[in-house]
Amino acid sequence: MRLNVGIDGPVGAGKSTVADAVAARLGILHLDTGAMYRALGLTAIRRNMDLQDEPAIVALCNSLNFTVSHEADGQHTFVEGEDVTGLIRTPEVSMAASTVSRYADVRKAMVRLQQKLASETDMLLDGRDICTTVLPNATAKIYLTASAEERARRRFLEMQSKGSTDTFEEVLEAVIKRDEQDMNRPVEPLRQAEDAVLVDSTHLTFDEVVEEILRIVEEKRHG
Ligand code: DC
Repeated sequence: MRLNVGIDGPVGAGKSTVADAVAARLGILHLDTGAMYRALGLTAIRRNMDLQDEPAIVALCNSLNFTVSHEADGQHTFVEGEDVTGLIRTPEVSMAASTVSRYADVRKAMVRLQQKLASETDMLLDGRDICTTVLPNATAKIYLTASAEERARRRFLEMQSKGSTDTFEEVLEAVIKRDEQDMNRPVEPLRQAEDAVLVDSTHLTFDEVVEEILRIVEEKRHG
């Protein structure tokens, strides 16, 4: 049977890095679904589009070809064949991704693509709606979170190491703002699926989180 694992959670819960480690231990691919919304947000910014113009953003989304590849250094994300992996991690693109992900027809297109990829091979997906919408029948479902302060602290340290001069307060504000937008949008807002297992990483180390998720996956897999 196909092994599909879903990990959802808010900004900065560590989903991507944890998902990478868990997928590697399970020997399966990790699909970072946020990167696809980021690729769309980046393209809209580059074309000087109004992100609030829903019909235009939906038309853009439906006109583009999004693909991913899995390389030794992780997932690469492509728009119309261009590798945009190095361009989608800026704060501006983060917020744009959150904004374009509010639109129902954007979500429909992205969900369809993610479901197709997950049906083709054993895969772990991380995002906001994986356990609720993309993979309702996933083998194991995880909701990974941590306090807003802890998530902002981790994001702040990561950004500092990359040379950012943003203050902790600015990072915390951006985290809270994006959470609000992701949790309060009308279409498929971020929420914990009823059958997802909550993992609160506020007081856990990275390794503890990985081990806990592996334990949950094994339990669901083998009963
Ligand atoms: O996981 P991330 O920070 O890279 O995601 C960027 C934005 O994309 C996030 O703020 C909301 C949106 N997103 C979504 O709506 N559904 C997903 N499955 C993944 C991301």
